[in-house]
Amino acid sequence: MDLTKNSEKIQVPEPPSLRKGFTARFLLWLAELIQSRFGAYEFLGYRYEKVARLGIGSFGEVWKVKDAVNVPPAIFVAKIPLSKKLNLKIEKEARILRMLADHAGVPEVREVIEVQQKRALIQEFVEGKTLYEVIQRELEEKEVESVIIQLMDIVAYAHDLGIIHRDIKPGNIMVRPDGTIKLLDFGAAKELKEKDISDTVTGSRPYMSPEQIMGKSQRRSDVWALGVVMFVLYTGMFPFYNEVEKVLMDMILELPPPPPSKLSASINPEIERIILQCLEKKPESRHPDAGALKNEIITTFPGYGKRILPLY
Ligand SMILES: Nc1ncnc2c1ncn2[C@@H]1O[C@H](COP(=O)(O)OP(=O)(O)O)[C@@H](O)[C@H]1O
Ligand SMILES: [Mg+2]
Repeated sequence: MDLTKNSEKIQVPEPPSLRKGFTARFLLWLAELIQSRFGAYEFLGYRYEKVARLGIGSFGEVWKVKDAVNVPPAIFVAKIPLSKKLNLKIEKEARILRMLADHAGVPEVREVIEVQQKRALIQEFVEGKTLYEVIQRELEEKEVESVIIQLMDIVAYAHDLGIIHRDIKPGNIMVRPDGTIKLLDFGAAKELKEKDISDTVTGSRPYMSPEQIMGKSQRRSDVWALGVVMFVLYTGMFPFYNEVEKVLMDMILELPPPPPSKLSASINPEIERIILQCLEKKPESRHPDAGALKNEIITTFPGYGKRILPLY
């Protein structure tokens, strides 16, 4: 879907020097003024041309962009907040992604640029489909294992560095054509060392743990979300779901999850036990972090997820 086809392109001159002089600043101001008035200016920070909008959310927009300065042109993803009030959030997402840069399962940060006083995060474009798209067809058991184990490995790495993701769900996971995955969207992530008095409720409702609903997240809240992802991949259903948000919250807080074997007769009882342990209401009853959860899976099933399989 090309959402950009109605906008006209304007060629923006390159900056005369890296240190922006008066003329350059004036041109930038002028170009930004044109953009805000006519919505026609398609460049971010002189060099990134908007190609297609990938997503739109409460914080702002995600665009596929082309680095027009690079030869040959390179593709990236720009995350642009709605308002400069969210600049710190973007900076934080960039900082967290950079902390995780040694793991292949997160997108690489290219830079943080400034666009109309807003910070925009320029990151690697990950080629592929989201897991949400991929699971529109039912996956084979080995395919499920391939995703689960990779996902656990990424989250375990983050947990070891004191980072919790807080929004693990299929829509935030990119599956590349070769079957390797990357976990996206550290926009809700948090460093545990942060003093965070007003811990806001972030995350996607059907994947949210009871304590996260109450505004208190920890590594074990990611373990819960991993349990929901497993539940969804093994049964094709959410453990808790209701259109009405308040009802859904109450279900998560109060109701025991349905046993996965009720929904999928072929599920291995040990897998079922592991999923249900992730969905224990009390965080202390779950594994402390994704590493412990991953360990339990591979000690119970030594061959689990050994082969990375292409999923489409
Ligand atoms: N690095 C990336 N590579 C490819 N696609 C991406 C990338 N980052 C985001 N996307 C796409 O954009 C969508 C929204 O991005 P995301 O970071 O999840 O922001 P949010 O969910 O907060 O709007 C994703 O679901 C994915 O389809
Ligand atoms: Mg997202």
